[in-house]
Amino acid sequence: MTLLDILPSLGQAATPRFDPAIWPITAHPDEVGGLCVGGVPLADIADEFATPAYVIDETDFRRRARRYRKALRGIQVVYAGKSLLTTAVARWVREEGMGIDVCSGGELAVALAGGTDPARIVMHGNAKSPDELRDALRAGVGRIVVDSCIEVAYLAGVARRRQPVLIRVTPDVDVHGHPAVATGVSDQKFGFTLTGGHAAEAVRRVLAHPILDLVGLHCHIGSQVTDPALYGEAIRRLIAAMADIRARHGVILTELNLGGGHAIPYVPGDRELDLDQLADTIEDALDAACAAEHFPRPSVVVEPGRAISGRAGVTLYRVCSVKTQSGGRTFVAVDGGMSDNPRVSLYGARYTVALANRHALGPKRRVTVAGRHCEAGDEIARDVELPADLHPGDLLAVACTGAYHHSMASNYNLVGRPAVVGVRDGRARELVRRETVADLLARDRG
Ligand code: LLP
Repeated sequence: MTLLDILPSLGQAATPRFDPAIWPITAHPDEVGGLCVGGVPLADIADEFATPAYVIDETDFRRRARRYRKALRGIQVVYAGKSLLTTAVARWVREEGMGIDVCSGGELAVALAGGTDPARIVMHGNAKSPDELRDALRAGVGRIVVDSCIEVAYLAGVARRRQPVLIRVTPDVDVHGHPAVATGVSDQKFGFTLTGGHAAEAVRRVLAHPILDLVGLHCHIGSQVTDPALYGEAIRRLIAAMADIRARHGVILTELNLGGGHAIPYVPGDRELDLDQLADTIEDALDAACAAEHFPRPSVVVEPGRAISGRAGVTLYRVCSVKTQSGGRTFVAVDGGMSDNPRVSLYGARYTVALANRHALGPKRRVTVAGRHCEAGDEIARDVELPADLHPGDLLAVACTGAYHHSMASNYNLVGRPAVVGVRDGRARELVRRETVADLLARDRG
């Protein structure tokens, strides 16, 4: 037995077992080699709250938010609630000085219940219902982002006081991402195209209703964007559109909302969007575009979701079975799957997985971590290296599951959605409780 066997933490000094680019800021192995997040051993969380569980590191979330505010000085940061939203998360967002973007009546209600100042809420959605628009107006949200002409009519009909609005446009900037999340190009459902007169028509309609206060333009070019230059291109096109609106209507728009989509790494080697470079690009593109159009500099808003919530989250699963099929693949089946993480089957997403309850020093083997659902494609991670002695009862942690996991979870196979457990300074607290069979039956009217 070597010293490293007795003190596994010694080994961490050389190469961290939990890559800090991917795991939460507070992730570290404890003295028995188990994974701790927020000062809490994940094994204790499994004991107390059962599995699967979404574990959210409040410190990680807050530090990412602070990093945004520091790197993007003078730029308003509005957190995208669609990535992860609970009332506690809304409170963290408020305390870190960010606004929240919501895109449904449900997200609006949770943001408000979490104490968000309505003036700092941006309401999105390509198919907002009249009820949702009414609720947003009544709540007094700071901005409503118009995504269709019928919305203009609804808003003008229901608004009782002047409502600031933005118009969402598609600048035709192609981020070459997965088609499901390519939102900045023309041939998809969001926004108004700058070409073909569509955005111009939306502007005309909004300006026809004095109760609507057109303050700016919005765009969201896509997801997992690593190249800041794409935001620079969007700025150039949007400032040109704003100059056009000034020429046609004599109206000067003062706000430019660039949406979110800032990339984070999920597996070692993935690139992330560099915030300092983004700040420089925004600055330079604004300077150049405003100078070219002789247009006054608008205030800039960004809406990051994943880059703030993604790495704060770890999903904790219990291993249910390990089997090697005659084809040669070894499947490690866990007690969750596509109901708590649909991203693998939707986008072919890849994840980093680690043994969480102990440190295994023996050999590793290549396995597929599979879910519990009735589909062959229900996988969490394919061809990942995990300890060869992995066995039922072990705990696996999957990194980067803070964004678009809890918010995209389903009840497929009538499996209840996992608890969301917040951790901080050695304490764990349920932010959202696990969904029970009783919850599922409660909605069934017989
Ligand atoms: N603003 C708007 C208007 C958006 O539509 C989105 C994301 C964001 C901001 C935040 O984007 P983020 O910074 O989080 O990338 N379910 C997919 C992601 C869909 C994102 C949709 N819109 C996924 O799991 O990758």
